[in-house]
Amino acid sequence: MKKVLIINGPNLNMLGIREPGVYGNVTLQTIEQNLRVQAVELGLDLTFVQSNHEGVLIDAIHEAHGTMDGIMINPGAFTHYSYAIRDALGSIDVPAVEIHLSNIHKREEFRHISVTAPVVIGQIAGFGPYGYELGLLALNRYLNQ
Ligand code: DQA
Repeated sequence: MKKVLIINGPNLNMLGIREPGVYGNVTLQTIEQNLRVQAVELGLDLTFVQSNHEGVLIDAIHEAHGTMDGIMINPGAFTHYSYAIRDALGSIDVPAVEIHLSNIHKREEFRHISVTAPVVIGQIAGFGPYGYELGLLALNRYLNQ
């Protein structure tokens, strides 16, 4: 069974409360629960990490080396400026998919840049919580090709 690490960065624990006009009403717990159901269908073994701390996210990425087959990551605001998270993803040989609930490309200019995009397979943005489902499908297909 392939193992996938699902990483959510800062402020994503506040989904459901945080800016519902941008991020909707669905909580991270619900997103994770839906992914668990989907993982049973796909035959994937999921591990979840959410942290508001850059170093915790970097440690989780490092620990995926040799233990995980794939990563799905929403780095939150770190997407736009964390060279350390980008380097962590680039340090390990584990394919990753980047997820954003919102379409970062049609928001404020600082969100148009993703420093992590060059070290992932691809990015899904703008489909709300459904983006996680799409991301897991895409990662699963990639891992089985
Ligand atoms: C986000 C987009 C980021 O710009 C923002 O800082 C987030 C969430 C998204 O999922 O749309 O925290 O990654």
